[in-house]
Amino acid sequence: MRKHIVAGNWKMNNGLIQTETLISELKQQEKTSDAEVMIAPSFTNLWHAFEATRQYDIEVVAQNMHFSEKGACTGEVSAGMLKSLGIKTVILGHSERRAYYNETDQSLAKKVDAALANNMRIIFCFGEELSDRKAGRQEDVVEHQIKAALFHLNASAFEHIVLAYEPVWAIGTGETASPEQAQDMHAFIRKTLENTYGKNVSESVSILYGGSVKPANAKEIFSKPDVDGGLIGGASLNAEDFFAIVNAF
Ligand code: 13P
Repeated sequence: MRKHIVAGNWKMNNGLIQTETLISELKQQEKTSDAEVMIAPSFTNLWHAFEATRQYDIEVVAQNMHFSEKGACTGEVSAGMLKSLGIKTVILGHSERRAYYNETDQSLAKKVDAALANNMRIIFCFGEELSDRKAGRQEDVVEHQIKAALFHLNASAFEHIVLAYEPVWAIGTGETASPEQAQDMHAFIRKTLENTYGKNVSESVSILYGGSVKPANAKEIFSKPDVDGGLIGGASLNAEDFFAIVNAF
């Protein structure tokens, strides 16, 4: 069902000690909103983070995974390995992985299938580059990314999928999509879902916005009707800032 979600993507930040410190600071924050809270530490800190948040309303999720279950894939981590730690959700398709680690629509479709086969929830990321937006083709790009990786699924699979629209030009740049730009794209994404899967699916999938969300702009972005939450990079590395965003709902 459609829910408010605020997820912190820590990216390649925080060693073990910093992870311990940030989690203990997160535990001291007061949550006043109904948003589900997630954090995505690096693989090496997942187990510690999972253990440290056991009694708390914070879900620990992974930033990526391989589509194979096991085998000769040096440096990779499978869905089964994540599940063996108790991890139930994985971020897939982040623009940094698409841009720097060769993730394609085809490999993402395989990762989606592998995650679902392991009963995992997916936060599926996509978004256009600046050149796409300048050329006015942002909707075509987003539609293609979603359809290529997800539209082979049946409707019930969408119970396990959260979408995250992250325009590449707004990631880590301090430049946020305006609340209206975010709303327009989220409405377009929902319409795209509705056209193939019907309103039951389109109205029940949570669509997050990501890209320079900060305490100062979160409330306005989250006030838009089709924005169900945020995927937060930089601001998720500070406990007070992150919870200010969580509490912006
Ligand atoms: P920033 O919030 O640092 O722009 O990062 C967004 C992001 O990429 C989250 O996945």
